[in-house]
Amino acid sequence: MTKILGISGSLRAKSFNSMLLHAAAQTLEEGAELEVGSIRGIPLFDQDVEDAEGVPQVVEDLKARVLACDGLLLATPEYNNGIPGAFKNALDWLSRPPEDTAKVFKNRPVAIVGASPGGFGTILAQNAWLPVVRALGMRPYFGGRLVMSHAHRAFDDDGEMTDAVTKDRLRDFMRGFVEFTGQNSR
Ligand SMILES: Cc1cc2nc3c(=O)[nH]c(=O)nc-3n(C[C@H](O)[C@H](O)[C@H](O)COP(=O)(O)O)c2cc1C
Repeated sequence: MTKILGISGSLRAKSFNSMLLHAAAQTLEEGAELEVGSIRGIPLFDQDVEDAEGVPQVVEDLKARVLACDGLLLATPEYNNGIPGAFKNALDWLSRPPEDTAKVFKNRPVAIVGASPGGFGTILAQNAWLPVVRALGMRPYFGGRLVMSHAHRAFDDDGEMTDAVTKDRLRDFMRGFVEFTGQNSR
């Protein structure tokens, strides 16, 4: 079984990026599964807190889920043409303490996707993740690209993806990423 952990970079109840992950899970074929993780409750990184109290339990819990997966799927919103601070903050915490960074991230297959109601579908935020992925030593999937523009038109009121073209693109993307993950699993 190829286990993918999807993390949504949005805390919004009706987040398009969270909906995108749920839609991605539905496209998977037998032999692969996708769980959705959340960054909810992760405090702002503060090295004084880390020094005094260690890594918060909410971070350790998400870290355990990353460690248990074969591949990580980051669904990123785009804020002001960049990575939303809350999402970057979560990854920064997950990379602590330094002794754990390699265990959590090194050579772990990762793909970045994103959804936006705008016309450019998070392309700049996705690009902004690349140096982070490189710094963490991850293994990025470059076999395809999933930039979802006009996301507000692609889901119904229950958060189900209704746009058939996007669904097909997502299925192809996930098929490629699952295959890549299977080939590069640690
Ligand atoms: C502070 C802020 C900045 C934003 N900047 C961008 C942007 O640069 N590009 C873009 O496509 N959308 C931008 N948006 C709109 C987001 O794409 C939109 O709020 C989206 O729904 C966020 O993702 P979510 O649905 O997963 O919460 C911005 C939204 C906020 C709150």
